[in-house]
Amino acid sequence: MAAAMETTKSDLISAECRAEIDQWVAKYPLDQKQSAVMAALRIMQDDNGGYLTTELMDAVADYLDMTPISVYEVATFYSMYELSPVGRHKICVCTNISCMLCGSDEVVAHLRERLGIGLGETTEDGRITLKEVECLGACVDAPMCQIDRQYHLKLTPEKIDAILDQLD
Ligand code: FES
Repeated sequence: MAAAMETTKSDLISAECRAEIDQWVAKYPLDQKQSAVMAALRIMQDDNGGYLTTELMDAVADYLDMTPISVYEVATFYSMYELSPVGRHKICVCTNISCMLCGSDEVVAHLRERLGIGLGETTEDGRITLKEVECLGACVDAPMCQIDRQYHLKLTPEKIDAILDQLD
């Protein structure tokens, strides 16, 4: 009788995601594969429509030989990871000191009015999530926001309107 196939938590990771994670693992010494945890979480988040579940974090922990808590610590520390569903597009507005001094309050107010949602909320049609984040390292071009993977700098209400009009 054939032995039952042993299953592991990392079985949740698709072959495509494994291949991508492996590229990151290969960048580090053999005994340091946990260094790929941030990339692995991003890959799994993208593959899951923009957010992580406990099962996916556990799968990453298993795949990288880490304790689950170590992976949860990373996923809950960085604002780029989501632990609940988000809209098709994610607008992350920086409200840290440089952006605040250069008008992030107005940026947030304009976005709230245009989208009809508050910070941390998603439009009813699931199109856009609005989020407040800490400094994204583009202070010289404040106020700024990140939409999906792209930075948008020196924001004004007119610029914001033009950007929103181009989102699908
Ligand atoms: S304070 Fe906003 S990017 Fe640094």
